[in-house]
Amino acid sequence: MQQNYRFSVAPMLDCTDRHFRVLMRQISRHCLLYTEMVVARALHHISQDGGSSRLGERQQRLERLLGFAPIERPLALQLGGDDPALLAQATRLAADWGYDEVNLNVGCPSEKVQQGRFGACLMAVPEQVARCVEAMAAASPLPVTVKHRIGIDNQDSYEELLTFVDTVAGSGAQRFAVHARKAWLAGLDPKQNRTIPPLRWDLVQQLKRDRPSLMIELNGGLEQLNQCRQQLEQLDGVMVGRAAYHHPLRWAAVDGDIFAAPAADPIRASSVVRGLVPHAERWCSSGGRLWPIARHLVHVVEGVNGARPWRAALSRAAAAPDAGAEVLETAARQLEERGH
Ligand SMILES: Cc1cc2nc3c(=O)[nH]c(=O)nc-3n(C[C@H](O)[C@H](O)[C@H](O)COP(=O)(O)O)c2cc1C
Repeated sequence: MQQNYRFSVAPMLDCTDRHFRVLMRQISRHCLLYTEMVVARALHHISQDGGSSRLGERQQRLERLLGFAPIERPLALQLGGDDPALLAQATRLAADWGYDEVNLNVGCPSEKVQQGRFGACLMAVPEQVARCVEAMAAASPLPVTVKHRIGIDNQDSYEELLTFVDTVAGSGAQRFAVHARKAWLAGLDPKQNRTIPPLRWDLVQQLKRDRPSLMIELNGGLEQLNQCRQQLEQLDGVMVGRAAYHHPLRWAAVDGDIFAAPAADPIRASSVVRGLVPHAERWCSSGGRLWPIARHLVHVVEGVNGARPWRAALSRAAAAPDAGAEVLETAARQLEERGH
C-alpha cells in the first residue's frame, strides 16, 4: 500500500545511520526516514556466503547493514544497484526485515558508484531502471520508489526527464523523489554535485503539473519549514537532507504543521538527548560504543547558550571506551538546567 509521506529526511551516507534516525524520531514521529544507501551486491555477497561465515556471523553482518529499531519506522531502505535479480533479492530482505519501502538510488554521482554502473549514471538508461523497478516491485508487497536527478551531463532536457519518469512509472515506481539538480558525472565530485549545478525546482513543479497522477517529491536546497509548506501546495512531498542533519531542531514543528499531529510535549535539545537514552542503553548493553550515537548530537545544541563547552564535555565523555547511556543523562540534565 502506497502512503503519502509529505515530509521525509533524505538518505545520506555517514549521516542517516540508525542512531541519527532515532534522534530524528525525537523530533518527528511521522516523517519518512531513509537509511544510507546499501549496495544490493553487498547484501547478495553476505546472503550467499555459505563458506567461511557461519549463520550467526552472516546474520550479524546483515544486522550491521539492515538492522533498525521499531521506533525508526516508517523507514525506507535505499538500495544501490543495476541488476534486477540482485535488487529483487535485496527487496525481499527489506520486506523480511520489516522496512516500509524500498528506494532505488538513481542520483549518486560518486566515481565508485559510477564504476558499479549504478546511481546517477542510470539516468542514461531508463529502460534498465524500469527493469530494476519491475523486479523489485514483483519481489515483495513493499512500495518501490526512485530517487533521481533532473538530468546528467548533457542529457538534461525536460523532455529527457519526462521520458525517464514515464518509462520508470510504467514499471511500478510509486513515488519519485527528484533532486532538483543535474549531476555532472565527469568533472565534479559528489559534494560539488550538490552545490554547483543550479537548483531547478521549477522543473519538478512542471513535472507534477504534466503528470498529476504520479507522486512527485521535491528534494534539494530546502532549508526551512515554510518553504516546504509552500512547495507542498503544488507537490506531493518534500525531502530534506543537509538542513535536517545540520539543523535538526529547525524541524520541530513538522508533525504539527505537516502531519497535523503535534507532539504532546515541547521538543527541545534536552528532550532529544534524553529521548536517546533508552536507545543508548540497548545499544551499549549489546556491546556497542556510545560515540556513534553521541557524534550526531553536536547539531542539536545549535544556538544554545554554552553549546561549545557542552559539546566538548560530551565528546570527551562519550569517547571513553566504557561510556554508557548515563553520559547522555548527564548531558540532558545540563541542558535542562539551562532551560533548553
Ligand atoms: C553527506 C551526504 C551523503 C549523501 N548520501 C546519499 C545517499 O546515500 N543516497 C542518496 O540518494 N543521496 C545521498 N545524498 C544526497 C541527499 O540525499 C540529497 O539528495 C542532497 O543532499 C540534496 O538535498 P539537500 O539539499 O536537502 O541536502 C547525500 C548527501 C550528503 C550531504
